[in-house]
Amino acid sequence: MKIIVCKSKEEVAKEAAKFVIDLVKEKNDCILGLATGSTPLGLYNELINDYNENGTSYKNVTTFNLDEYVGIDPSHEQSYHTYMQSNLFDKIDIKQDNVNLPNAVGDLEANAKEYETRIKEAGGIDLQILGIGSNGHIAFNEPGEDFESVTRVIELMESTRNDNSIFFESLDEVPTHAISMGIKSIMGASKILLLATGEGKADAINKMINGEVDESLPASVLQRHNDTILILDEDAARKLDCK
Ligand code: F6R
Repeated sequence: MKIIVCKSKEEVAKEAAKFVIDLVKEKNDCILGLATGSTPLGLYNELINDYNENGTSYKNVTTFNLDEYVGIDPSHEQSYHTYMQSNLFDKIDIKQDNVNLPNAVGDLEANAKEYETRIKEAGGIDLQILGIGSNGHIAFNEPGEDFESVTRVIELMESTRNDNSIFFESLDEVPTHAISMGIKSIMGASKILLLATGEGKADAINKMINGEVDESLPASVLQRHNDTILILDEDAARKLDCK
């Protein structure tokens, strides 16, 4: 794993944007794996700014998001469909037909299977953006999930529901389940960029880099990926020296 430590979360966003923009320029029909949550918002802003200022085009780019909540409509203001539209897709020239998120309405098991197949048929992910949960989760793969897991329905842990409750009116409104790409699906990406900002991630970051590769900390599996870059701010990197 390569580690880049930046002075601020704004720099993390700029640094990450360089990787995405370089890839889109080099391979205009690339496949991007995208994440939601607070962490990638700065990155998406950088991509929008670059699109407006330099015209980098996403016309031929395809995207696959990591996950979607079960039990809320795609049009709900906290769905990941809505998040992606308002924070990125509506503001660049990507084609709606080329954006993919798990369909968390209807036959969930069948939808999850179909999503995994769709990623494979698209040729696999060139660059996957990841955040990390304070408990070390990646996508919604919670501690204890099998490293061989693929896209499926997942029950969210209480700690994750608590972390995400800031986006909802109350904890009760936070969905209990999601459809999420699995660890194996994520490990299939050619290149992975994991972004982490803030002290709340420092413990998980230290364990994923210096700890054992173990299912109790899902992100530790990235030690086995041959092209993963961690882009951290100083707060998230704070515990890295205390092995
Ligand atoms: C989002 C996702 C999650 C988040 C993680 C960190 O699509 O899959 O794993 O990346 O929960 O969330 P934030 O960035 O809000 O701290």
